[in-house]
Amino acid sequence: MSQTKKSYVIRFANELNNFRSMEFNALASLYKLDFKFIEPISEKPFMIIETDDEAALLNLFNRIILATSLFECWVSSSDFDEFIDEVNNCSQIHNDYYRNCSFRIQVEAFGRKISQQQKIERIERLSGLPLKGKIRMINPDVTFYYMEYYGLNPNRQPEKPYQILFGKWITDSNRKLCSTFSLKTRKFIANTSMDATLSFLMANIAQININDIVYDPFVGSGSILVSAAYFGAYVCGTDIDYPLLHGMIKPTRVGAQQRGDDESVHGNLKQYKLESRYIDVIAGDSSLPLFRNDIEFDAIITDPPYGIRESRERIGTKKSDPTIPIEYLDRHLPAKLQYKLDDIYNDLLNFSAQHLKPNGIVIFWAPYFKPKYDHQDPAIRFQHENLRLLSFGEQKLTKNCSRILVVMQKILK
Ligand SMILES: C[S@@+](CC[C@H](N)C(=O)[O-])C[C@H]1O[C@@H](n2cnc3c(N)ncnc32)[C@H](O)[C@@H]1O
Repeated sequence: MSQTKKSYVIRFANELNNFRSMEFNALASLYKLDFKFIEPISEKPFMIIETDDEAALLNLFNRIILATSLFECWVSSSDFDEFIDEVNNCSQIHNDYYRNCSFRIQVEAFGRKISQQQKIERIERLSGLPLKGKIRMINPDVTFYYMEYYGLNPNRQPEKPYQILFGKWITDSNRKLCSTFSLKTRKFIANTSMDATLSFLMANIAQININDIVYDPFVGSGSILVSAAYFGAYVCGTDIDYPLLHGMIKPTRVGAQQRGDDESVHGNLKQYKLESRYIDVIAGDSSLPLFRNDIEFDAIITDPPYGIRESRERIGTKKSDPTIPIEYLDRHLPAKLQYKLDDIYNDLLNFSAQHLKPNGIVIFWAPYFKPKYDHQDPAIRFQHENLRLLSFGEQKLTKNCSRILVVMQKILK
């Protein structure tokens, strides 16, 4: 049901800032959030939007990883005296409910440290507001939010804030997922396990939905699948590392003597009570055709090997006579050759074009070495006639090295 339009402040975490708009736009599309930017995503730790669909915004907030909190935005001002007038004149503050409910005021300054005493001074400056309810620090009916923004440069902090925001706190995001699913407490990890924040971010950007079928062709320890399963998808994957998938390698935890039975992708899903979302993992080579042509996935979500911390391999041999002596047949692991980086991505795009449902999404990381791709749009090298580029974002690793997260969607021909 449509309500009146309201403005909302979305407060971002100071992490992976390059991916804020990718995540927000993807979730807005998933939850069909119709909104208008009042202050678009920028380097500021917040943005302001207008919408009449708070229900969709709350759904989005239940998932978003790169934001911390959501507020109704009642006033945004750049001058303190004007700010007090604007708060006094804003219609919400004269609403009977807000005038009489119990409340507390949460004060925050971004870009400048303010002491507890200074916070109290800010609250006292607001004492002229027509609020008659009781102040209650625990479980108030309403938490009002007051934020001063001093910019991003800690060496050039202005005396007065650039912007002051005031409104009503609505909810916090579900960022605690990142610690609940931390790799530190994960049953099974490998050298290149994707950390929980990035895995949830990928699942959000891929718009994983309940009952989707999601596939990771370079599954490793299955970290990305954990996040997809948490959002309700059925998950499966492939990895060329047979010993890794079959529990034949050393324990992954430093100091552990024996590898536990549950150190597997299945064990990870079990740990989080997501077992019912597990389809299976296949020990196989993703450079080869593994599935019938008509098998389709809702999303493909992966971190291919770049050859830095793990080898890029494909099954093959340079031997002219690759016959395996019969006595080795039962424990033979196929020989491998190097899997060229360009081939990995060509194969991944061809596989996605073949095996994604129409409008399905493939999301993957790719290395980006600046001197090699200088002045080139980082995502230009990923093109396929049946896939369109939806978005990409860069994560800087060193001065010259980054990796980019690329998102493509299968288009109908
Ligand atoms: C970057 S790791 C993926 C890590 C994974 N996201 C995780 O959280 O554990 C890349 C994986 O690709 C696997 N791999 C390398 N070449 C492969 C191939 N040709 N087919 C399938 N898997 C391959 C490696 O064994 C490795 O586990």
